[in-house]
Amino acid sequence: MNKKHWIVLCLSGLFILACKKDNPIKEEIEQFLGFRKPANFPEPVYNLANNPVTKEGFELGRALFYEPRLSRNNTITCGSCHIQSSAFTQHGHDVSHGIDDRLGTRNSPPIMNLAWNKAFMWGGGVYDLDLQPITPITTHEEMDENLENVLNKIRALPKYTAMFKGAFGTEEVTTARFMKALSQFMLMCVSSNSKYDKVMRKEAGAAFTTDEQAGYVLFKDKCASCHSEPLFTDGSFRNNGLGISTINDKGLYGATLIETDKYKFKVPSLRNLQYTAPYMHDGRFLSLAGVLEYYHSEVQATPNLDPVLNQNGKLGIALKEDQKAKLTAFLNTLNDTEFINNKMLSEQ
Ligand code: HEC
Ligand code: HEC
Repeated sequence: MNKKHWIVLCLSGLFILACKKDNPIKEEIEQFLGFRKPANFPEPVYNLANNPVTKEGFELGRALFYEPRLSRNNTITCGSCHIQSSAFTQHGHDVSHGIDDRLGTRNSPPIMNLAWNKAFMWGGGVYDLDLQPITPITTHEEMDENLENVLNKIRALPKYTAMFKGAFGTEEVTTARFMKALSQFMLMCVSSNSKYDKVMRKEAGAAFTTDEQAGYVLFKDKCASCHSEPLFTDGSFRNNGLGISTINDKGLYGATLIETDKYKFKVPSLRNLQYTAPYMHDGRFLSLAGVLEYYHSEVQATPNLDPVLNQNGKLGIALKEDQKAKLTAFLNTLNDTEFINNKMLSEQ
């Protein structure tokens, strides 16, 4: 290397240093990795090309998700019912608790891996994540507000107009931008670092115990036809035999009015069950043991019961005590502490 080369090398080094110093934001952007498909997941369903996740869009979405002005009396946020430490469910509540302590009729589901969801809500009816927030904002028992009021409250705050400019180029606060930002936050709520994921990706040191492995085999035999890997739901709506509830929630039928959809509910993911109790659309089971006993002995033959749960008149899924223990060991490998502790997804 001659003298000339050295000079060029030194100058470029100085240039890089100068850029770093002048532009700390640029460095931060480089750390924000955007939406990334985990190696063991399929392609997402959500059209990311239509709403690419940017750092600014994500941060705006996060601020809105934790913004009480989305509710009529500025007390309830999306995060009130979707709490991160409970994998974005409302821990301890069978049905959701919203504005003025009003009770809903269904259990708050997790905000998790929604980029892979085709249909939303326990009973369907919403098929686009960008439209989903209208329901909680306007529902009497949830936020009890209307969208125009929300947008006006947001427009009045310089903090938000600046964030809209950063995310979308101008200060204009429109419904579409508001929805897209919320979606960007929710899309980033990806849970893919459980022990199960690490074993599947063959990461160093990750291995199932004998019981977990035995539970995995049982799971594939008895549960995976509906709770299919790696999302632990096939995204379909089914009647798993819970029986007709006192409020007679008819599930998917409420959205489609098709007789054969009565009592069908969305197959939920089984990721993070440690944090999401109570279980089922109405939060009727407090523990996993309760759920397993239910599949073993309490399945009821209501209209449209899934044929998988009615084999020649034998209802449910027979499970011996040791099988229940092994299944539980496997299900516990689906808990993802990184997800519930990820600071990026917390209220800032
Ligand atoms: C009062 C509690 C409450 C509030 C506030 C609330 N949610 Fe929910 N959320 C629920 C319940 C309950 C459901 C299930 C509703 C159903 O199935 O009919 C739900 C469902 C969802 C779903 C569908 C998830 C799936 O897997 O199908 C998404 C997405 C969601 N909420 C996002 C939000 C956003 C965004 C906000 C804020 C704008 C919000 N929620 C505010 C209770 C709440
Ligand atoms: C025929 C399809 C089907 C099979 C097979 C099935 N499930 Fe389910 N599962 C469902 C549906 C549908 C729901 C939601 C029902 C509701 O809330 O109305 C559900 C709910 C659950 C829940 C509650 C999750 C939550 O977040 O509330 C757990 C836990 C569960 N199933 C575990 C299992 C296990 C373990 C097996 C195997 C022993 C199994 N399931 C077999 C369809 C099925």
